[in-house]
Amino acid sequence: MKRRTFLKGAATIPVAGALLSSSSVFSPKAATAKAGKAASGASGTGKVPEFAEHFLTSDMNGLGPDGKPTGQKATFSGVSKADAMADSASSKMKLTKEEQAILDGKEGEEKAKLMKILVKFGETFGATKLVELGGAPHSNLYIGAPYMNSMIEMLKQCADAGLKSYAPYTVNPRPYDVYNVQNNPKDMELIYEGYPLQAKLDWVHSRLGAPDLNFRSCACYVKEIGNAPKPGTYVAWCESSAVNYGNSVLGIRTNRYGAGMEMICAMLGKAPLFGLMTDEGRQATWLVDVKTSKVPDWGALGTAIGRKVVEDIPYIAGLDKYFEGGKVTPDNMHLLKAMGSATAAAGAVGLYHVEGVTPEPKEKKRKLLAKGYKTYVYDDKEQKRVIDTFKNLWPEKGGDPTAAFIGCPHNTYFEVVKWGKLVIEALDKAGKKKAAIPVYMFMANKVRERLLEEETELAGKMKRAGMSYTNMCAVSYSGMKGFSERVRGITNSAKTRNYSSIRYFPDEILVNTIVTGKIKA
Ligand code: F3S
Repeated sequence: MKRRTFLKGAATIPVAGALLSSSSVFSPKAATAKAGKAASGASGTGKVPEFAEHFLTSDMNGLGPDGKPTGQKATFSGVSKADAMADSASSKMKLTKEEQAILDGKEGEEKAKLMKILVKFGETFGATKLVELGGAPHSNLYIGAPYMNSMIEMLKQCADAGLKSYAPYTVNPRPYDVYNVQNNPKDMELIYEGYPLQAKLDWVHSRLGAPDLNFRSCACYVKEIGNAPKPGTYVAWCESSAVNYGNSVLGIRTNRYGAGMEMICAMLGKAPLFGLMTDEGRQATWLVDVKTSKVPDWGALGTAIGRKVVEDIPYIAGLDKYFEGGKVTPDNMHLLKAMGSATAAAGAVGLYHVEGVTPEPKEKKRKLLAKGYKTYVYDDKEQKRVIDTFKNLWPEKGGDPTAAFIGCPHNTYFEVVKWGKLVIEALDKAGKKKAAIPVYMFMANKVRERLLEEETELAGKMKRAGMSYTNMCAVSYSGMKGFSERVRGITNSAKTRNYSSIRYFPDEILVNTIVTGKIKA
């Protein structure tokens, strides 16, 4: 089974199928859930249904230096159970009286169905109980395409029954932008025909407790969005890069959910306790020793780690010198965002520890390494080897680039200002006012608002130079039909590179290319 097929199966079938057949704004308990009429609910039978077997096995393999599979497989839960079989990995869940009552329909038919799905899901992954969630959820249900209809309809049924998330929540960026990028008539056709359910999806999110579209971002944890729960908080987040950053840098506790499951957890305010939510599940099984002579290429490093550990947890040493005083700040958080998102894209890493920097190794140090851990050394030679595997996927390999894509995951405020200054200064130096190719800067509207308020002059120069501020998802946009045939893109995102034909380059090469229109690698 291909990765996409697996994900689609894991994410949508159990959820939608089960229901359809019958200071921040992100403060907890800010929303309520209403009970509907009672109905009979049934607890799990203890036997894992056929569809759920794909939760535990997949064909996503780690790659060795020769580019061949190492035999290590991903389960996409963020919990390595390579070669585990569904029956042996599953368990029976013990419910509280309140949870059993929900399952029995005392709080309405819809909640009973949600609970039935959640219990089955937890049992599949070996959980024995549910825990209360805190902070705020994050959802990656953001695509209003026809294949999402059953999921969107399920959410609508929940909203119609008066259910809501236990707290206002954040949602991933939309897959397109009809205002800030150059869409030709063909693009508009693809947008409106490809995403006919977008308004329905946006609306149901609004009814379930998401704030307006200005808060849409995959980098939900930046200050301008504000979804950054306290360390140790149990949450149910969905979006590989956000889960990865949240678990690792914020110290929250979430598994990697398939799209839709996070909304079920949000509406119940509960999640099954297993995997990355447990101390045991947060132990590292790899020591990654970074020994590059200069600052590593963060995207290449993340890609290398993802390919090597697949979905295991790496404990990364040798990076603390790049974080003054071991602190993650608004000025350096993007380094971890870039590295981490690449580990989650090239592999399925849901949590990493950075020695001397992220919260858990600061407290527990190398006690976080599990017995028998493996070691991976990342030095200059290894970095070059990894970068050399990044193939040129443009159909016209020798052509000049036609657009730059900066910011996947979404840019932080610091990054936007940094890129603005880099490009404007380089243009000034070259005696130019306009970039040679359009530059799409991906960010939440809230981040753009701050830029316009605090860096008005720079923002104006950037716009006049051909830099657009867009709040859509870079990868979804580049996934539009025909995109790779007509756009020769360049990017600073190893995640975008992983999922598209867009080519990845270090910042200095990108800036030069943006100014000259030619790649001088
Ligand atoms: Fe964000 Fe889309 Fe990249 S959701 S992480 S911009 S793939």
